[in-house]
Amino acid sequence: MKIHVQTKSGEFEYDCEQGENLLYAGLRQGLTLPYECATGTCGTCRARVQEGEIGLEWEDAPGLSYVNHEKNELLMCRSTASGNCTLRVPAKVTDGAGDMAIPGYRKGKINNVRERTHDVVSFDVTLDSPMAFDAGQFAVLETEVVTGGRAYSMVNYATSTDTLDFVIKRKPEGKFSDWLFENNIDGHEIDVFGPLGKATFHPEEKKNLLCMAGGSGIAGMMSIIARGCEVSHFADHRGHVFFGVRTAEDVFYLDELSSFVDAYPETLEVTVALSDEDIPRDLENRYPRIKFHTGFVHSVTSEQMAGKYDNILAYVAGPPPMVDGALRMLVLEAR
Ligand code: FES
Repeated sequence: MKIHVQTKSGEFEYDCEQGENLLYAGLRQGLTLPYECATGTCGTCRARVQEGEIGLEWEDAPGLSYVNHEKNELLMCRSTASGNCTLRVPAKVTDGAGDMAIPGYRKGKINNVRERTHDVVSFDVTLDSPMAFDAGQFAVLETEVVTGGRAYSMVNYATSTDTLDFVIKRKPEGKFSDWLFENNIDGHEIDVFGPLGKATFHPEEKKNLLCMAGGSGIAGMMSIIARGCEVSHFADHRGHVFFGVRTAEDVFYLDELSSFVDAYPETLEVTVALSDEDIPRDLENRYPRIKFHTGFVHSVTSEQMAGKYDNILAYVAGPPPMVDGALRMLVLEAR
């Protein structure tokens, strides 16, 4: 079927398969349709139906609070068409993603499942065809066992790879994370759509980096730092990584973060912030390359970064309250 879109930069038409969501169909054909989460929470992919029959995949999608139902609006990332239709998209759209890789569907197999903490697992997904992506991008994973896809940032970085690494924190009542934690998922086949996301790292911008992460938000930062190390970015730029968790039991990736610092001890700093307890002495002894502080990650960042915001590019990822605190701090202090 054909999807016709009226946008602020002209009109476009693309093909859509039966049952395929409207956003992914456009993106895989190179249209830069607006999105952020790609999974129904942010409301960025809002569009108005001008003509045609649309079905909704997830009636409780949080992003629906941003749409005006009376005006026939929908979320493209959670809607399918049952025939040709026309949408009005309130954004500038181009036909061609520039240097960014065009996302597509792949089949993947879960391997190498590792428990990182009591509520964090990591695993690899082996793809049936290689994917090129930028450091900081994410993919949507979907299993037939749970309705709807979930977006997770890649931890690894590679220019083109058939293996994607993920780290996932169990969410209270999270159906996908419950499935991951309660079943033997090694070898399970899943659908993968990606790469997605624009919070990417491009060394040619020649910026010092500030990465602030809460919990599994560290995933995309690992990819960015790996990329930075790969291209020797930290030979002449500074990198400041702040990783916030509640207690020492919740922290992970310390070996990997230590080895990044080992490679660039003069310019790359990693600080772990524990919000709910004092720093255990043995943790400091085991990881001498890493700094530890008590406090919320945005407060610790504020203290440690004062006067160091010159030529800096900041990345923030984590639970919404942490991201809100970090953004407020950056606006007020880093300006
Ligand atoms: Fe976030 Fe669709 S892209 S709700």
